[in-house]
Amino acid sequence: MEDREKIYPAADADVFARERLSAKRYGHTLRVAETAEDLARAHGVDPGRARLAALLHDAARERSSEEFLGLAEDLGLGVRESERESPKLLHGPVAAELARRELGVEDDEVLEAIRAHTVGRPGMGPLSLVLYVADKIEPARDYPSVENLRRLARCDLRAAAAESLRRSIAHNEERGRPTHPASIETLGWLEEAEEGA
Ligand SMILES: [Fe+2]
Ligand SMILES: [Fe+2]
Repeated sequence: MEDREKIYPAADADVFARERLSAKRYGHTLRVAETAEDLARAHGVDPGRARLAALLHDAARERSSEEFLGLAEDLGLGVRESERESPKLLHGPVAAELARRELGVEDDEVLEAIRAHTVGRPGMGPLSLVLYVADKIEPARDYPSVENLRRLARCDLRAAAAESLRRSIAHNEERGRPTHPASIETLGWLEEAEEGA
């Protein structure tokens, strides 16, 4: 238990992200970290681990599409068809693997949260939900339903994640873009739990 919860120093994760990101995306990263800490406190999740996952979540985001595919293959991450079409979808799994290899982050839930932050994952745990939602509602996010999501996130993280997934699937449909299968599976999983509640 203690090993699983071994916290990698957030200060190092901060430097890791800052060195790899533009000022704009680093700013987003810091806002997600603050938001994730707040949500974690509100929902009984460890805020330190939420901050760590948030600091690292977009650390690979500014690599090129070719680099994502090459890295994903080198790192042995399975690449799905939707990811081949849109390699940036791999920035979560690639960031998690870099955090593990280059920073020595061993906390599985932290790595899972980083991995799942873009498209979700069925069965995602509380820490993953905190990061997923924090990324969508950090203070600079500005879209019509964001205030509703912020309110929902205070009381029900799973409902907020489900609402955010519905919104992103609808958004893709409007633009004729495919949705990553994991997002559809995750929404199905969350809705099943809602119905069973
Ligand atoms: Fe991201
Ligand atoms: Fe992000």
